[in-house]
Amino acid sequence: MSDPQQQAQRALRNALGAFPTGVTVITARDDTRDSLVGLTVNSFSSVSLDPALVLWSLSCKSPNLSVFVPGRAHVIHVLADTQKDMAYQFASPGVDKYAGVDYQLTEAFPAPVIEACTARFFCEVHQVLDGGDHHIILARVLRYDASDLAPLLFAKGQMMSLDTCTAP
Ligand SMILES: Cc1cc2nc3c(=O)[nH]c(=O)nc-3n(C[C@H](O)[C@H](O)[C@H](O)COP(=O)(O)O)c2cc1C
Repeated sequence: MSDPQQQAQRALRNALGAFPTGVTVITARDDTRDSLVGLTVNSFSSVSLDPALVLWSLSCKSPNLSVFVPGRAHVIHVLADTQKDMAYQFASPGVDKYAGVDYQLTEAFPAPVIEACTARFFCEVHQVLDGGDHHIILARVLRYDASDLAPLLFAKGQMMSLDTCTAP
């Protein structure tokens, strides 16, 4: 049985989950541990066109708080609706996030770049802002690409495809 505070938090999370989003996977290199990091994020949002800025939020409980600091290169991948399994894989702590993932690590950009996404934003952390139990990562978009692939959607705790949504 959960206490009233946990129940209140769950109710707020459920209400916030009524707002549909896309799904992203954010990738970076952890130079200190010489490893790759990556996580599934739906808090991504556009902020500014000039300068080109986006934001996303990172849980204060994340083991990667020391990675996403000002200047850190990272790629925000907007997932296609064929990448649902990858979304769950990158949301699972303690697994090999990159197992079976088609990605490139080249000299061109110091973060893993995943193939076959709807869009990709090549970013560097501009500012880390206080966001309560999350850090708000304000990121500068250095370059981007986009495809015609249909995006993966997330609403009410479920992943779905744009194809299965009908016009109102
Ligand atoms: C659809 C979805 C959206 C998520 N969005 C976020 C988010 O915006 N910020 C965040 O910190 N974690 C988010 N998570 C949780 C992380 O993906 C998850 O905690 C992941 O394991 C963190 O990576 P770690 O293994 O490095 O801890 C989300 C999970 C899912 C399934």
